[in-house]
Amino acid sequence: MQKYMIVGGNRLQGRVRAGGSKNASLPILAACLLGSGRSIIHDVPNLKDITVMMEVLQHLGATVKREGNTITVDTGSIDTFDVNEELMRKMRASNLVLGPMLARFRKVTISHPGGCNIGTRPMNLHLKGLKLMGAEIKERYGYITAESPTLAGTEIYLDMPSVGATENLMMAAVLAKGTTLIKNSAKEPEIVDLQIFLNRMGADIKGAGTDVIKINGVSSLCPAEHTVIPDRIEAGTLMVAAAVTGGDVLITNVIPEHFEALAAKLRETGVEVTPEEDTVRVKGGGPVGAVDVRTQPYPGFPTDMQPQFMALMTVAQGTSIITETIFENRFKHVSELRRMGADIKVEGQTTIIKGVSKLSGAVVEASDLRAGAALILAALVAEDGTVIENIEHIDRGYDRLEKKLGALGARIIRVHS
Ligand code: UD1
Repeated sequence: MQKYMIVGGNRLQGRVRAGGSKNASLPILAACLLGSGRSIIHDVPNLKDITVMMEVLQHLGATVKREGNTITVDTGSIDTFDVNEELMRKMRASNLVLGPMLARFRKVTISHPGGCNIGTRPMNLHLKGLKLMGAEIKERYGYITAESPTLAGTEIYLDMPSVGATENLMMAAVLAKGTTLIKNSAKEPEIVDLQIFLNRMGADIKGAGTDVIKINGVSSLCPAEHTVIPDRIEAGTLMVAAAVTGGDVLITNVIPEHFEALAAKLRETGVEVTPEEDTVRVKGGGPVGAVDVRTQPYPGFPTDMQPQFMALMTVAQGTSIITETIFENRFKHVSELRRMGADIKVEGQTTIIKGVSKLSGAVVEASDLRAGAALILAALVAEDGTVIENIEHIDRGYDRLEKKLGALGARIIRVHS
């Protein structure tokens, strides 16, 4: 078990690089399964969820190597067609092998990922789309088996713009016969990055980033090389870290148009946000105003930044309302923020946050990845020391966050207990 010990009060200052995107890397690593041979993916962050995806690919028979932030995946000898419960429990996104395995090998079995700390998270949209393409889906004893001698292009309407369903269906459709239209598809930048990678492999996809994606099936794909986009959620977390400490931080390796909703909300609070081509400077220091936030699919305010933004609102001047519309159980950080002195009321999917003049250190627990990030941000401004337990949740999605924050002046150490 590892913990963070944080002493708040320092203003963050300096320059920090955001790493490559976790949520772009995961589907792209899974997409390597579509072409036989060695694909090379650059700027893949070194974090736990990526290690799990590497284990999943190895379990299926691929040879996977990491050198620094470059991962090579050789899928020439895939000989296993199921992902067991142990691997699926380690990370939900292991389900991203469903589409590519079905497309290339015509059969795959995965353990049903089930719910998680932030909600029930069904897979009905992934499965509905695969069925429409002609796959036979069996759900038995907690496992999902998909089989199809041939997949056929078709029109799929997603009841909601699910990121994972859009990615799985794109990866299934690339080798289907004919044209697939995914309507009401997710528009996240990670979907655009997946399209770029798949097209490099020889796929014929247009429309990623809009709500209709058109995929003309091709007969085969080959391996490819790609550099993943920067992680907009890591960048966003660092932006809020600058804001909450009244700091002045330049974040490099970013694509500012990927976090426009967050930048707009930060500006509304009175924080200065100055984007350049591939950097953003965030300068706080004045009073932080309370603003309301409602999470939305991209390009709306991301659910993955909701807990961190709430940490900022706990010390804002006035009352803010934060509404979560994507996941039904994403307020686990509230009880921990309250232990630190925050004044937050929860009413269904809405929270009412009355800003307080100071937070105080406490022993708190990270319940999931972004909830853990929110606790770090609160600890950076709390009086006295804070201990954050269960930080393995934070390691799932942040690559050495304590090093990055420490280099900016935060007093944060990792303790092995
Ligand atoms: C991805 C991100 C995650 C982010 C989320 C929403 C990755 C690896 N993870 O997760 O960080 O928080 O997008 O931006 O990229 N849903 C259904 N049926 C389905 C699929 C989804 O009802 O078949 C629902 C989910 O329960 C949830 C909503 O749709 O309420 C959005 O989920 P989805 O976009 O699929 O999230 P993930 O792809 O799992």
